[in-house]
Amino acid sequence: MTKKLWGGRFTGKTDPLMEAFNASIDFDRRMWAADIEGSQAYARALQRAGLLTAAECEAIVAGLEQVAQEWAHGQFTLQAEDEDIHTANERRLTELIGATAGKLHTGRSRNDQVATDVRIWLRGEIAHLRSHLNQLIGVAVERAAEEIDLLMPGYTHLQPAQPVRWSHWLLSHVWAWQRDAQRLDELTARVNIMPLGSGALAGNPFPIDRSALADDLGFEGITYNSMDGVSDRDFIIEFLFWATLSMVHLSRFAEDLIIYSSREFGYVTLADAYSTGSSLMPQKKNPDALELLRGKSGRLAGHLTGLVMTLKGLPSTYNKDLQEDKEPLFDAVASMSGALQIACGVLSTLRTNPAAMRAALTPEMLATDLAEYLVRKGVPFREAHHIAGAAVQMAEVQGVALSDLELSDLQKLHRAFDEDVSAVWSFDLSVERRDVEGGTSRRSVLAQLAHLRAWLVGRTE
Ligand code: ARG
Repeated sequence: MTKKLWGGRFTGKTDPLMEAFNASIDFDRRMWAADIEGSQAYARALQRAGLLTAAECEAIVAGLEQVAQEWAHGQFTLQAEDEDIHTANERRLTELIGATAGKLHTGRSRNDQVATDVRIWLRGEIAHLRSHLNQLIGVAVERAAEEIDLLMPGYTHLQPAQPVRWSHWLLSHVWAWQRDAQRLDELTARVNIMPLGSGALAGNPFPIDRSALADDLGFEGITYNSMDGVSDRDFIIEFLFWATLSMVHLSRFAEDLIIYSSREFGYVTLADAYSTGSSLMPQKKNPDALELLRGKSGRLAGHLTGLVMTLKGLPSTYNKDLQEDKEPLFDAVASMSGALQIACGVLSTLRTNPAAMRAALTPEMLATDLAEYLVRKGVPFREAHHIAGAAVQMAEVQGVALSDLELSDLQKLHRAFDEDVSAVWSFDLSVERRDVEGGTSRRSVLAQLAHLRAWLVGRTE
């Protein structure tokens, strides 16, 4: 019979179904590098504490290096008793260096080990996500700068509302991504805290210098309560919330583009690289990439809710329920990594159709500008709004566009109307009039671009 890590007091055999039910190796094996990094540093800490000789420490660190090489080259062979990544690595180390391997786990528990490994693994993944997000933002900012002259209808309630710059629309999504980037940085500070040295729950009985260990592992700080240290999964919940909200942002961006790429709108054309055909209808080109971005937001919200439910009401410290943190976390990381790169690919390859955007702009979208014209002539806004509404109705009755009403007709509605009303009917001027900070005028959009560029430089330096 093979020996289990925790086998000492057990005499009966484990039900094979239980072995499978209990095992996490199929998914936690991806943390192999983090587990080895943590163990190598822990061996050095044991040596500093006088629990390993220099030679023993050397043997353990080198043995673990060999285990890492096996993983890296796909040569690590799992055994039936490898319950999780911690067990697997220690079993292999024992095969390679013999009894000295048995000293590595001195004062350590898988409880503080797993909590440490997940944090090491996640901070590494966050670094990749951060750069994918920077890349997406960078591409969007450059695209917005290049296409600043394109105008399109802006919508509320999905009804044509007022003309806006295409860049202004694009940057409206970029600001959400920028907040996602800030949130990711903020939560990373709470991920990068070390629980190692908490033992099973009560703390390490040997004189481990936890701060030195944390420095060795690149952690920014240590946990100050061992019972909290082994049970805290807040950082995973925070990450799942981040992923959920970020995916919601991507799904809203995707939904806009799905609408704008439809034949009825035609404002943009997606590259073939991110579309697929129909197995039945030869004419179809479907925005699958965007639909998946939209669809994945539901799945991530499920992961977040699921883990919150798992944690609710758990008794203190470690319970095996906590093993359920990993699959949602791993899936959220993989989904976000794919989604950010796909969104970047879609955005950098799509074609805009300026003529379709222009053609969709209608004079009715300038009815607000008509009211504002009267406001500039001293008419109170409420009254001006009413008069502009009457003008819309008059145009409807006459069967003409709002901009084609005769001046004499407009003057029947209010005597303040004058020749200069013709300037109202320019989409370009309408957009330029919205010149406050955060508006859609050229100057305002350029100011947004300057803010975002400065922020990006600060992040990528
Ligand atoms: N595979 C376990 C997990 O992911 C590791 C910790 C096991 N601890 C224990 N006391 N059984 O949570």
